[in-house]
Amino acid sequence: MPREIYVIGNWKMYKTGQEATDYINALDVAVKQSKISVYLAVPFTSIHPAAQVSKETHLVIGAQNMNDAREGAFTGEIAGLMLKEAGAKFVLLGHSERRRIFGETDAFIHKKIVRALKDGLRPVVCVGEDAQEREEGLTEEVLKKQITGCLETLDVEGMKQVILAYEPVWAIGTGKSATADLAEEAHAFCRQCIAQLFGEEMAELVPILYGGSVKPDTVAGLLKQTDIDGVLVGGASLDPKMFSEIVLNSESVK
Ligand code: 13P
Repeated sequence: MPREIYVIGNWKMYKTGQEATDYINALDVAVKQSKISVYLAVPFTSIHPAAQVSKETHLVIGAQNMNDAREGAFTGEIAGLMLKEAGAKFVLLGHSERRRIFGETDAFIHKKIVRALKDGLRPVVCVGEDAQEREEGLTEEVLKKQITGCLETLDVEGMKQVILAYEPVWAIGTGKSATADLAEEAHAFCRQCIAQLFGEEMAELVPILYGGSVKPDTVAGLLKQTDIDGVLVGGASLDPKMFSEIVLNSESVK
C-alpha cells in the first residue's frame, strides 16, 4: 500500500496568535481541504487560535517541543496534556535546533516521545547529520545512533504513530537543499534502520519526511523518490502563498 504524503510547516519562533489566524485565513482553500496530510507546527501560544480557525479544514495543528514529564516543578516547561488541551495533535521532537542550541540528547528525546504517545500526541521525530559529520563520512553512523537512541524501545503501537523526519543540519535555513538523490539515499538508510529495529513491515509503514531548504520548485523532485513520503518546511512555510504552492505541488506527485 502506498504511504500517505505529509507536508509539515515548522514556523519555529515566528507568528503570534493573531498572525497565525491571518496566515491560515490566507491559505489557498484547496490547501485547507487537501487530500494529503497538511500539518502546521506553531509556537505554543498560537496553538489554540490556529486550531480554532482550522476547525472546518483538514489542517492539523501541532507543537514544536514538550517536556517528558506529565506535570511537575519544571519552571518554563510545557506538558503534552497542555498542548493537547490547546488543540495540538502532534509534536516535533528532537529538532536539530533543540539538539544543538538546547543540548537535547537522544535519551531525553526518547523520553519525550514516550510521553507524547501516552498523552495522545503524534511524535514527529527529527534526525540528521551536520556538515562536518557528512564530510567525515559519518552520516550513516549518526543517523543510526539517533534513530536507535530515540526509538529503540518503543512498542509496535507506539511506532505506528511515529513520523520520522530526516533533516540534514547543513541544509536547514541555508538554501542548500540536499539533492533528491542524496536525500533518497539517506531516507533508504533510515528505513533500513527501522527494519533492523522493528522489522520490514514496520519499516514500510513509517512515513519518512525530508527537511532542509524545501521550496515550491524542489518539492516534487523530492517526493518522486521511493522513500521520501513528505517534507518538513521551515522558512518557506512562513508565507501562506509559498506554503500553499508547496502543498499543491506535493498533491500532484505520487
Ligand atoms: P528550512 O526549510 O528553513 O531550511 O528549515 C527546515 C527545518 O528546520 C524544518 O524543521
